[in-house]
Amino acid sequence: MSSANTPAAVVVLAAGEGTRMKSATPKVLHELCGRSLVGHVLAASRELNPQQLVVVVGHEREKVSAHVGAVDSEARTAVQAEQNGTGHAVRMGLEGLAGGSADLDGTVVVVCGDTPLLTGGTLQALSATHAADGNAVTVLTAEVPDATGYGRIVRDNVSGAVTAIVEHKDATEAQRAISEINSGVFAFDGRLLVEALKQVRTDNSQGEEYLTDVLGILREAGHRVGASVARDHREIAGINNRVQLAEARRTLNERLLEQAMLAGVTVVDPASTFVDVTVTFERDATVLPGTQLLGASHLAEGSVVGPNSRLTDTRVGAGARVDNTVAYSSEVGPEASVGPFAYLRPGTRLGLKSKIGTFVEAKNSSIGEGTKVPHLSYVGDATIGDHTNIGAASVFVNYDGESKHHSVVGSHCKTGSDNMFVAPVTIGDGAYTAAGSVITKDVPAGSLAVARGQQRNIEGWVARKRPGSSAAKAAEAASRNPESAD
Ligand code: UD1
Ligand code: CA
Repeated sequence: MSSANTPAAVVVLAAGEGTRMKSATPKVLHELCGRSLVGHVLAASRELNPQQLVVVVGHEREKVSAHVGAVDSEARTAVQAEQNGTGHAVRMGLEGLAGGSADLDGTVVVVCGDTPLLTGGTLQALSATHAADGNAVTVLTAEVPDATGYGRIVRDNVSGAVTAIVEHKDATEAQRAISEINSGVFAFDGRLLVEALKQVRTDNSQGEEYLTDVLGILREAGHRVGASVARDHREIAGINNRVQLAEARRTLNERLLEQAMLAGVTVVDPASTFVDVTVTFERDATVLPGTQLLGASHLAEGSVVGPNSRLTDTRVGAGARVDNTVAYSSEVGPEASVGPFAYLRPGTRLGLKSKIGTFVEAKNSSIGEGTKVPHLSYVGDATIGDHTNIGAASVFVNYDGESKHHSVVGSHCKTGSDNMFVAPVTIGDGAYTAAGSVITKDVPAGSLAVARGQQRNIEGWVARKRPGSSAAKAAEAASRNPESAD
């Protein structure tokens, strides 16, 4: 029984052009929530543990094949050179299996590459029904509010059994009134499918080989034809244009946020929060409005992200706070604080209880435990130790116009405001630097570095050079009444 639930093959149909997307990108490569359409379908299909998985490619096959190889290295591809219909596509797919289609034994599941909301659970339920009922074919159907464009499920008036699928373009008025539609997902007995596909003809409005005709053919031949109705019709929505793509994105985003909330994450405003399927959370993480969490981002327990933040491939430690921040490929340590208005670029690693403050940019740098870069600074290619404070408006001058250089600041340092650290340079533990310094030479541990021009006051300059000006008058008044000038 359990082996019957492991299909011999899953065939993913992805050869079509997707004309209605009006795009230079093949339809199945369009993206939602961090994965391509076909990437979502492959992920769901893998939950069936099929012995083989083949993707039928045609339109822009090099691009689609390369993408399939990148997201699922075990998947095979089969070429359908001309798009002669879904039945033809499945024939090509079966021929592309290791061992071909000749002695195919077991269940074949067919899915379309343009139904990204389909879940592994629904595919498993379909597979289980198919096996339990001993069907030759089981079609996944759904009741939809608007069936326009879909193939309709025609059932026997008396028994309720599925008798045929009629494409919208070929349907009568009465058939078009049917609201139960073909999702395009099927479980077949492999051998019977191979035989039936040989009998599919092209005498329909599109002149194509319809996979859907296999149902009628198998039924006529006396085999069991069944249907499994999807619990949520939104799951089987096929994406044909960008309006549907946006709707699917909203549906999937809602689903992901719901899962997160049920697992103990606070999402203050789901409508303005966007997540990829690859994002993970620990409980009691909080996401504030206007936040996008992308790629392999992770929010640890008790962390708070947002409002208005976009994190890509960024890990936020337990109890950390990230406010109004854009971050890529960075790691925020536990209880660290970032923003508001910070920009973390790839390779930024922030230690426990460290701080990257307002209008601070960091890149390829590691900032030690308890170290603070509170205001208006750029930290590029630097290693900063623990419990150091970097003064406001400081820049790690990492680029000499040709290459990037690395700087090191030790632990327990206090650097002055408006410092330039001209890399490569090293500042020893416990050292101080004076405000306004341009640090070009290494600073030994425990010393104070002063690297700025000496101040010189030229007395009476305003009275001589700007006589009669408001400044001169203010200076004169101050000289008459020194106390009020304070
Ligand atoms: C198809 C079904 C329809 C169902 C709908 C569900 C048929 C004849 N019709 O219609 O009953 O309600 O899906 O979304 O099966 N493809 C190929 N090669 C081809 C033709 C299509 O690989 O020659 C692929 C497409 O890339 C796509 C999938 O098959 O991933 C479905 O094709 P599409 O043209 O979108 O079919 P629909 O008209 O939507
Ligand atoms: Ca479609």
